[in-house]
Amino acid sequence: MATKIWAHRGASGYAPENTIPAFKLAVEQGADGVELDVHMSSDGKLMVIHDETVDRTSNGSGRVVDMTCQELKRLDFSNGMEGYENVRIPTLREVYGLLKNTNLTINVEVKCDVVIYYGIWDHLIALEREMGMQGRIIYSSFNHYVLLKIRELDPEAKIGLLYSEALVDPWVYAKYVGANALHPHYLAALNCPGMLEGCRKAGVDVHPWTANDPQVMRELVEAGVAAIITNYPNLALQAAGR
Ligand code: G3P
Ligand code: MG
Repeated sequence: MATKIWAHRGASGYAPENTIPAFKLAVEQGADGVELDVHMSSDGKLMVIHDETVDRTSNGSGRVVDMTCQELKRLDFSNGMEGYENVRIPTLREVYGLLKNTNLTINVEVKCDVVIYYGIWDHLIALEREMGMQGRIIYSSFNHYVLLKIRELDPEAKIGLLYSEALVDPWVYAKYVGANALHPHYLAALNCPGMLEGCRKAGVDVHPWTANDPQVMRELVEAGVAAIITNYPNLALQAAGR
């Protein structure tokens, strides 16, 4: 199967990360999917943003968990990128609305690393069902307990285990947890002997992140990973010969 190309935080090499323009650009560039990050606002809305706070990517400051959706929506998330002034933070609902009528896969990374958003799993599954997005989403997280909660609520949900380290035989753990995929840092995918072959034999897909160097992307394609997560989907498509 040809390696799929997923746009990391949208086509974030070219447009402000985790914003509607970045997701639109991913579609325009021909990506097969997008990766995005989700936190929860104080009024329980699923907000698409990478950090726990708005400080790095907006003109505001404070934690997402302490602000309402409306307060978050007042901020400018252009993050210094010219031509994107006044771009707003999207809700997950808005991103699903944008991508519903495309063929793109949506890799929803659930951010429960620092702040634990109790109940975020209920909101995620409810939204997926309400928007008719079943089968289009793969949930990932560095917090694997969150993925088990999601699975509990929806036994059909696809889950991918995020990690950065050079783990030994990680497909054994993936099978134990019942995960569909491993989401390793790309170095952990390329530099661990037998890792990709072990996963292939075990039927566990490998979706490495975040490969932005064309040479690394070519190596991952040659190694036969199922998907590459990249800030530059156009370059990854070239590296994949598409
Ligand atoms: O999901 C892949 C990648 O996004 C994980 O790390 O910090 O960029 O969310 P981060
Ligand atoms: Mg992410």
